[in-house]
Amino acid sequence: MRSLNGASVVVAGASSGLGRATALAFARRGCRLVLAARREPVLREVARHCLDAGAPAAIAITTDVSEPDDVQALAEAAVARFGAIDIWINMAGVSLWGRFEDIPAEAQARLLSVNLTGVVLGSHAAVRAMLAGGGGGLIINMASLAGRVPVPFCAAYTASKFGVAGFSEALRDELGVRSAIRVCAVYPSFVNTPTDLHSANYTGRVLRALPPVLDPDYVAERVVGLWGRPRRSLPLGLHFALQPAYALAPGLTGWLTAQVMRRFLFGIGAPAPRHDGSLFAPLAEGTGSHGSWAQPRSGDSSQPRSGDSSQPRSGDSSQPRSEESRHPRSGDPIPTQSGHPVHPRSGGPTRLLRGPATRPRSGPQVGRRPRPGVTLVTAAVAGLFAIVLTGRARR
Ligand SMILES: NC(=O)c1ccc[n+]([C@@H]2O[C@H](COP(=O)([O-])OP(=O)(O)OC[C@H]3O[C@@H](n4cnc5c(N)ncnc54)[C@H](OP(=O)(O)O)[C@@H]3O)[C@@H](O)[C@H]2O)c1
Repeated sequence: MRSLNGASVVVAGASSGLGRATALAFARRGCRLVLAARREPVLREVARHCLDAGAPAAIAITTDVSEPDDVQALAEAAVARFGAIDIWINMAGVSLWGRFEDIPAEAQARLLSVNLTGVVLGSHAAVRAMLAGGGGGLIINMASLAGRVPVPFCAAYTASKFGVAGFSEALRDELGVRSAIRVCAVYPSFVNTPTDLHSANYTGRVLRALPPVLDPDYVAERVVGLWGRPRRSLPLGLHFALQPAYALAPGLTGWLTAQVMRRFLFGIGAPAPRHDGSLFAPLAEGTGSHGSWAQPRSGDSSQPRSGDSSQPRSGDSSQPRSEESRHPRSGDPIPTQSGHPVHPRSGGPTRLLRGPATRPRSGPQVGRRPRPGVTLVTAAVAGLFAIVLTGRARR
């Protein structure tokens, strides 16, 4: 196996969350990095952190992954700068929550074009560049638990991630018989990134993750590990206990999941305005690897904002912290490219797309905090036992 040191790595979706954590993890191995997303000033900041962490070179290329010309230009810039592309990571993505009919059709279509078309376009540009460069390389596509187990009230996102799963498997098999390019897909459950700020939210409530929530640095390290062992599928997180339950009893598992999600999304969180998150235009806030996805917001304005590196981390605290996470100011909000994001439907500036000042606040949480993730996993395991026992009793 070739050493990672000096490998050229393209990360599409590198300005925050898992993309940022992954770029830094590759930087620590001495990789040369091409960082892509829409927030160019944030990418330049990530590039500086990558250089500090050990990358010999790091460049930032402004890219909208749903735009074929942008993605082609990204591949060309990577080859022009580093001669070849060894690893291409399709990390960019947004989620979209709410009752299906409440979410505008335009938002559903946009989500598919970012999450699914973006992965197809990125892989297309990567395969062409890798074949032209001699035929080898690694493509890593970020799917989700939602690419294996459907997530109710998140149907378009589920569609996009099942799409990424099917696409990655088909492409892997095709390239496996005619090239040395390997394709892997990663399926994390909930990860503590700023995704809660960037997700489009039509639930009318503050979004919360179903615990337990993974640490972005842990996921990033597992992504880096695919270089040594390019697996077809990398599932991460306890929620995968649901996968066999879903395979054996999709109706029961789906019903249970829908009941838990309904209560969790619409019955617990504090009221919040409906918004498109970063679906149509990037948001200023949420620039760190870590976010507040794991911590329900209390509505107390003294709480640190998501992306602030000073914020206490959740997830597995035994996992290594990224270099960037030790820099206290790395998560500070910066202006977006346009300075004044414009709502794509209204055509005017929108408070909801602006960032820190408009971040939905929740009211104080009262009483005992429910543990719906634990409930769901317990229900899945109980369901599995019930299925096995029923099968035995019939025999
Ligand atoms: N966090 C979780 O619980 C979780 C679980 C499973 C899977 N995932 C997946 O992990 C990936 C990363 O998400 P995250 O959790 O790290 O959230 P995040 O912090 O919001 O990161 C999303 C990244 O995608 C970029 N992006 C969004 N739209 C883009 C576009 N049109 N063109 C280019 N870049 C775009 C964002 O940059 P700009 O805004 O600067 O463009 C940002 O760098 C996504 O594919 C997500 O579905 C997340």
